[in-house]
Amino acid sequence: MAHTDSAEPTRRDFLYLATGAMGVVGAGAVAWPFIDQMNPDASALALASIEVDVSAVEVGQSITVKWRGKPVFIRQRTEKEIEEAKAVPLSELPDKLARNLNLSDSADASDANRAAEGKEAWLVMVGICTHLGCVPLGNAGDFDGWFCPCHGSHYDTAGRIRRGPAPENLLVPPFAFVEDAKIKIG
Ligand code: FES
Repeated sequence: MAHTDSAEPTRRDFLYLATGAMGVVGAGAVAWPFIDQMNPDASALALASIEVDVSAVEVGQSITVKWRGKPVFIRQRTEKEIEEAKAVPLSELPDKLARNLNLSDSADASDANRAAEGKEAWLVMVGICTHLGCVPLGNAGDFDGWFCPCHGSHYDTAGRIRRGPAPENLLVPPFAFVEDAKIKIG
């Protein structure tokens, strides 16, 4: 699975979309990312939910949106990525919990428990490394998923930590498809 060229993120991973919700609170929300989590106020509450149109996200493409001041990765996985993730025995995972806020705390880290319900191609994850909080790069690392260059954490195609110092899988936020190509986060 190792790719010699995997350190190069694709241009697609740098496609950023503004969401309608961001417009509501204006540029101020961009100026103080990460702070609202510690000190929630009315502006932070206004960002509690966002809706994201993913109709332009093609197979193999990712976008990053901002939700409550945090980057959230949305990826439509390829068949190969899905199969790779499904093929990994739970016993090989350093973190065996789903870390999916849509499920119970004890749900296991199977691919089905990480991907969108009923739409296994789609991953929605908070894009913050569970080690010390850097933003991992997409399409990178030894497991074809995400790579955090700060201290070398490798995540797989289901966003599960596979190697490196990060202790937990990337967090799956509360989300649901509210239309065929629209995701509500939060
Ligand atoms: S913050 Fe990602 S590996 Fe340390």
